[in-house]
Amino acid sequence: MVFVPELMRFADGAPVRNAEDMRKRRTELLKILQEYAYGEMPAAVPVTGRITDKITKCCSGDAVRYNTEITCKTANGDFTFPLSLFIPNGEGKKPLIIVINFRPSPYDEYIPVEEITDNGFALAQIYYEDITADNEDFTSGIAKFFPQENDRAPAKISLWAWGISRALDYLLSLDLFREDAVGVIGHSRLGKTALWCGANDERIRFVCSNCSGCMGAAYARSYHEGGEPLASIAKVFPFWFCKAFQAHCADASGLPFDQHLLAACIAPRFVLVNSASGDLWADPVSEQNTCIGASPAWQAYGFTGYQGDPAPYGENEGCLDGGIAYYKRSGIHYLGRKDWNRFMKFMRERIDVSVQ
Ligand code: GCU
Repeated sequence: MVFVPELMRFADGAPVRNAEDMRKRRTELLKILQEYAYGEMPAAVPVTGRITDKITKCCSGDAVRYNTEITCKTANGDFTFPLSLFIPNGEGKKPLIIVINFRPSPYDEYIPVEEITDNGFALAQIYYEDITADNEDFTSGIAKFFPQENDRAPAKISLWAWGISRALDYLLSLDLFREDAVGVIGHSRLGKTALWCGANDERIRFVCSNCSGCMGAAYARSYHEGGEPLASIAKVFPFWFCKAFQAHCADASGLPFDQHLLAACIAPRFVLVNSASGDLWADPVSEQNTCIGASPAWQAYGFTGYQGDPAPYGENEGCLDGGIAYYKRSGIHYLGRKDWNRFMKFMRERIDVSVQ
């Protein structure tokens, strides 16, 4: 399959030959994705954090929970949102996973808290609507501090991703976590958000996209029957994307980008794309195609990219090697224990590797 727009050519047609070129190409790609898909990513602002509650005997007594509040000092005023933090007991800096989730409580069917901390990972949980509401209201939460001035203004996915990065500003300031072991995970619309956040924020070394589908990990040009069409996502969820997206979503072949370019912005850091065989709406085959199409970015940096098969995987198959990995589990659209365990394994296998 030919993956277009071509990852390994600059917009002016010049070839991308090496790591230095790829870094420049990443800058170009982020700009294209901001202009035509997700809207601008607002610049960082000063952040402060405050612990509001500390629960020392959490998860069988093996972890400590901190309820915290993060305040972002924007030019237009202060914005505060909550974050739940779980840190396993024991000496030393911990690897950290940030999850952005659908519901306020971290004790959620999508988040096996105790299993995560028992595996030695610290966990930070953000409820996405604490950043801004999942609707067309751009006065909600952080949105009102970044006015919708033009058709590239930050849309909701950008704002949620920005919130993750501000949480990370605070978390890294605590000096409790390994800077080489920061992961972000999200499911579905929040998988799209995790990818976009990882594309922009180079402090995130591991990204897990779970069933993220259309405008997430699914390569739109290889759309499969039963998958979510671009025109549908643009109509039903216009507020996830910048206004300029509307002009390009009628037909994937005319898109000025595709999702392999999004994944490539995370290179040479690590991406795990999780699909579910019963989740045709997220188009698992197109999610695998994105991994294949993004792979040359890792090679440009001198690392291995996608190591799996080119042909679509069956149920409970995939390949966890390389810089960008793909796995298709059996079952439905869901973020489950198996998905978490796969991501933790993926991180663990790479954390002590000093390069890549
Ligand atoms: C809808 C939407 C998807 C999205 C999903 C979710 O199904 O069409 O694009 O991924 O919601 O976030 O749950």
